[in-house]
Amino acid sequence: MNTFKADIEEIRRRAKEKMDDGAVTSSYGADRERVIEVLNEVLATETVCTLRYRAHYFMAKGVHAPGIEDEFLEHANDEQAHADRVAKRITELGGKPDLDPAGLATRSHAQYGSAETLNDMIKEDLIAERIAIATYSEIVRWLANDDPTTRRMMEDLLATEEEHADDMAKLLARFGG
Ligand SMILES: [Fe+2]
Ligand SMILES: [Fe+2]
Repeated sequence: MNTFKADIEEIRRRAKEKMDDGAVTSSYGADRERVIEVLNEVLATETVCTLRYRAHYFMAKGVHAPGIEDEFLEHANDEQAHADRVAKRITELGGKPDLDPAGLATRSHAQYGSAETLNDMIKEDLIAERIAIATYSEIVRWLANDDPTTRRMMEDLLATEEEHADDMAKLLARFGG
């Protein structure tokens, strides 16, 4: 039984809560504290996605599915690179990257999952990518021109998550039952 749920509307609502009525300051534009808070949720999301893809990489090794473990590993490495960019941006904004394992899953937009079959692994990854696409799109719209540097970074991440979702959709068509 796959318990991985994705109420994307609810997750988007929760992510958006942080962005509501953000104060605007003259020099920087965005509400720095709030941007740091939102970025720490992105950092948690990227970290949870790194861990999930790495677990899937090792689990897929035992399965006869040529090429699939390489795909999982590639995505794990992409998510780790995303996490690093986000952590760096948090420090540039004067914040502290929150990588405390306690509460990591709560701060993350996407879930870690509990898949045991290849089919469920791919589905979980696809759901997580779709959640990231939905929440990152909100963040890009919210940042607008108030913090163009952070917005451009989020646009880069968004583009990669779209590629990831496409990769997973193709794998699901190949290996999904
Ligand atoms: Fe990512
Ligand atoms: Fe991704």
